[in-house]
This record gives sequence, C-alpha cells and structure tokens, in this order.
Amino acid sequence: MSLIKEVIRNNNTNVNPIWIMRQAGRYLPEFREIRKQNPNFINLCLNDELSTEITLQPLRRFNLDAAIIFSDILMLPYGLGQKVEFEKNFGPRLGKLNLNEITKVDEIDFVERIHRIYKSIQKVSSNSIVKNKNTIGFVGAPWTLLVYMINQQSPKKKLKEDFFKDEFLVNRTLLIIEKFLKIHIKNQIDSGANIIQIFDSWAGLLKEEDLPNFIFTPTLNLVNYVKSLNVPVICFPREIKNYKEFCEIVKPDAISIDYNVDPKQIVQDIKIPVQGGLDPKILLTDKDTLKKGTIKYLEIFKDHPYIFNLGHGVLPETDPGMVEYLVNLVKEYK
Ligand code: CP3
Repeated sequence: MSLIKEVIRNNNTNVNPIWIMRQAGRYLPEFREIRKQNPNFINLCLNDELSTEITLQPLRRFNLDAAIIFSDILMLPYGLGQKVEFEKNFGPRLGKLNLNEITKVDEIDFVERIHRIYKSIQKVSSNSIVKNKNTIGFVGAPWTLLVYMINQQSPKKKLKEDFFKDEFLVNRTLLIIEKFLKIHIKNQIDSGANIIQIFDSWAGLLKEEDLPNFIFTPTLNLVNYVKSLNVPVICFPREIKNYKEFCEIVKPDAISIDYNVDPKQIVQDIKIPVQGGLDPKILLTDKDTLKKGTIKYLEIFKDHPYIFNLGHGVLPETDPGMVEYLVNLVKEYK
C-alpha cells in the first residue's frame, strides 16, 4: 500500500509521507521554461503532453509520495463555458457569469471542453515514477468555485457587500457546480486518480451562520460521493474557524490544515488523519529555521496519522534546494 494510504486507511503513524501543494509550478526553473513558451495557462492545462511533463517534474527531483495533476480548480467554470483567463501579476479573471448559458451545458459539452485533463491523468498514473505512490486528483469546493464564478476574480480579504444579493443566481449556480464537480471527480478517478483533494481556499470568508448552506452541505455531498467510489478524500477548508466542527459534520478521510491554526490544538481536537500546516514562508528563510519548523510539526504529530505538507501552496520565489532539504528531513525522521 502507498504510504499516504497507509496513513489514511490504516492510521499508520510509523510512516512519513510527504507531498507539497503547488509542487508543480513556478518555483521550478524547468516549469518556468515551459510556461514561457505557453503564455495561455488554460491551454497549457489542456495540453496533455505538457501537463503530464509538468506534473512529473517535481517527482524527478524530490522523493515525494504523490503526483498532483497539473490543472486548476477553475477548469470547472471553464468547462461550463464561463470565460477564464490568467493574467500575469493579477491571477484569474473570469467573464460575467451567465446563468442561462451554464444551465444549458450538459455532461457531453463539459467533458468535451476539458477531457484532455483526463488524458493527462491517464498518462501520469501509468508512468513508472508513480508506482507505489499516489496520483492526486482535485477539485475546488463548491463554495470556493461559487466565489470565483460570481466575484470574477480572487476576493481580497472579504466578499463584496452584494455577493448574496441575487439569491436565485447563487443557489442555482451552487447546484450546477455540485453536479459538474461529481462528473469531474468521477472522470478523474476513472482515469487513474486514486486520492481526491477538495480545495476550499475561501472557506475563511464565510460567517458562521452561512457555513451549513455553503460549505457543510455541499461539501458533505461531495465527500460522500467520493467515498462511494471507494477513493480517499482529503478536505482543505482553508482558514475555516472551526476545523473540529468541520470534521465532525463533513467527515472527510483526512483534513488538511492551514498555517494559522495551532497544530497542538488540532492534534487534541481531531481524531482523523491530518495533513499539512507548515507555513510556506519558512522555505524562504534558512535551513536551520526550516529544520526547526519541520521537526516541530513532525513531533506534534508523532503519534497521530499525519501526511506532511505545507499550510498553503509553495511560493514562486522558493529555492528548490530548500524543498529538497525539507523532503529529505521528513523522509529521514524517525
Ligand atoms: O502542483 C499543484 O498543486 C497542482 C496544480 C494546481 C494549480 N492550481 C496550478 C496553478 C492546483 C492544485 C491549483 C489549485 C488552485 N487554483 C486553488 C486552490 C489552492 C489555493 O492556492 O488556494 C486556487 C484558489 C486556484 C485558482 C488560481 N489559479 C489562482 C488564484 C491562481 C493565480 C495565483 C497564483 O498562484 O498564480 C492560479 C494560477 C495557477 N494555478 C498557477 C499554477 C501553477 C500559476 C500559473 C502561472 O504560471 O502563472
């Protein structure tokens, strides 16, 4: 069994698996080389030769336990026909959401627009480099996708005043997102993904009273769906105020934590396998500081099923040498 599954399925505390959010990306010169020649990010995600190559790049360098498919959570709105672009130094920019248009999209249209992602998953999962390792498929959580689709760009620190104003639009869109997320998850699994991670990057923006409608219920539906396909599901409700409550209601197979929560509190409160937590900024310091920070997490989770990862994606300015140092530290820890 892969090390990650040992943790998730057998609660094994004697193994130290590691993978890194955004492990395929801009901190790697070999990625930047490909990116320079491919200014359109969506087209790059849909180029199965190149996206396979990019996915495998970090595994050639580091002793990682999983490949995560080079794609993006915003391929879902793209598949629904909403315009999605990635602008340098700005991030994603989406076209206006047209409910009439996305209502008309069926499964065939959707899959036709993004099927090359599935081809890339087939190529990655059948590559010998991932033998005994995992191929992680992923989606954005319904809430985070709703935020992007309505807001048309990353929200800064809070939602616009009128975000929920058009109640019909909000509720209908959420249901459409949920329907197509299931299709997207199923296709990733059928193509070879053997773990699914659900990224809820903007979970922290919601008020407590809105969590049931926008996070708990739709995410629970997805988690139950992934479980029904017999694949482990990891949730990352970034900056949610109460991880314990989230785990009790949504019951993912593992929970990924951000770097603002106290790992000591987590290990007391949460019974299921935990992933992540280390602040990605620590990779911008020096080896001694990195070592202290890493050992701190390893010690806290010594007797708890734990998958090493960061508390958010690796930063573009990170030195790959520091990532290598981190991976080796985790692998050599006893
Ligand atoms: O290595 C991996 O983790 C797999 C690939 C991956 C990407 N995006 C590639 C990417 C994954 C898992 C994602 C998830 C994603 N995308 C999230 C959830 C995780 C998180 O960061 O909170 C979100 C919110 C997005 C949306 C998104 N995509 C934003 C906000 C941006 C711009 C900001 C940024 O980091 O550049 C992207 C672009 C993006 N997605 C890049 C990559 C490698 C950078 C593209 C470039 O080269 O310019």
